Amino acid sequence: MNVSADSARTIRVDLGARSYDIVIGPGRIAHAGTLLAERLGERRCVIITDTNVGPHYADALDAALRAGGHETRTLIVPAGEASKSFAQLEELLEQLVAGGLERGSVLIALGGGVIGDLTGFAASIALRGVEFVQVPTSLLAQVDSSVGGKTAINSQHGKNLIGSFYQPRLVIADTNSLATLLAQELRAGYAEVVKYGLLGDADFFGWLEANGPAILAGDTATQVRAIERCCEMKAEIVNQDERETGQRALLNLGHTFAHALEAETGYGTGLLHGEAVAIGMVAAFDLSARMGLCNAEDAARVRSHLTACKLPTGFPPHPGAGWDAEILLTHMGRDKKVQDGRLTFILANGIGDTFITNEVSDDVVARLLTEMADAS
Ligand code: GLY
Repeated sequence: MNVSADSARTIRVDLGARSYDIVIGPGRIAHAGTLLAERLGERRCVIITDTNVGPHYADALDAALRAGGHETRTLIVPAGEASKSFAQLEELLEQLVAGGLERGSVLIALGGGVIGDLTGFAASIALRGVEFVQVPTSLLAQVDSSVGGKTAINSQHGKNLIGSFYQPRLVIADTNSLATLLAQELRAGYAEVVKYGLLGDADFFGWLEANGPAILAGDTATQVRAIERCCEMKAEIVNQDERETGQRALLNLGHTFAHALEAETGYGTGLLHGEAVAIGMVAAFDLSARMGLCNAEDAARVRSHLTACKLPTGFPPHPGAGWDAEILLTHMGRDKKVQDGRLTFILANGIGDTFITNEVSDDVVARLLTEMADAS
């Protein structure tokens, strides 16, 4: 766990001809031009960013790319979940085509999960597919959404329902960009870090219990180490199951609950995604304990670490008429994880030992949801 603050780490996602590197470390945006040229040669690049991230990092990325011999232009979309829409996708694609996009052009997604998902999907269909690079600037994007090739926009019927599997050619995670995140956003991204420990590495979870405060306080060395471990785990899972026909679904720990909470509070307007995942992971461990799969101490440990990191562990105040277990179950039923009409859950035998199941009765879930609703 000794990482000097100036060291960069590289993790390889091993997918044959579509393999790529994830480069992690402070100040990596300044090296983007070289990192890209080493892998793809000199290219025409289009930086796609949003109104929040662009003012902080677009000029630095543009300068680094030009210094590496690339041509650049920048397109800016409105910040926020609403940009993961058909309307924004259409506008972006038309801007790209109008600006002379070529098959050899490279799209560079500079931002959090929204920008990565939108840009990746645009890259997968523009001119029948152009290459793209992820430069994630949020913790959530650095540990999860920028890696593994899931791209998506939202449908009026649910989140991420329209998209493609389309891998980036390179991921550059500059930990300096975490410094401009709001504390609440950093914490929400940290929930996804905790997810990796819970889903498959009890030692890492133990390390997070000791080092979570340093990560949230902005300590570079611990941030690099945590992001590296998450990306290692994600790369290993994606290497084996790129299209989520099996083990990749473990990465959805807490997400069946989370998406239902987000659907009810309004995507991008109420709970942050990572906050919903924190609540969802507590629910998944509580459900596992009730079903006699894991012991109550493990479930309590999950809750206690998330609480110590100031993440929510129970339902927030409802924005309208109040929480209703039946309505939450209906939201869950619209999730793309539903198989043959049955909900899919990631449950736990213990911390670091999870599995995928659709053998959970709606009644048990409804009881848990009702109790969580009553406690809110
Ligand atoms: N965020 C979950 C996955 O990439 O599979």
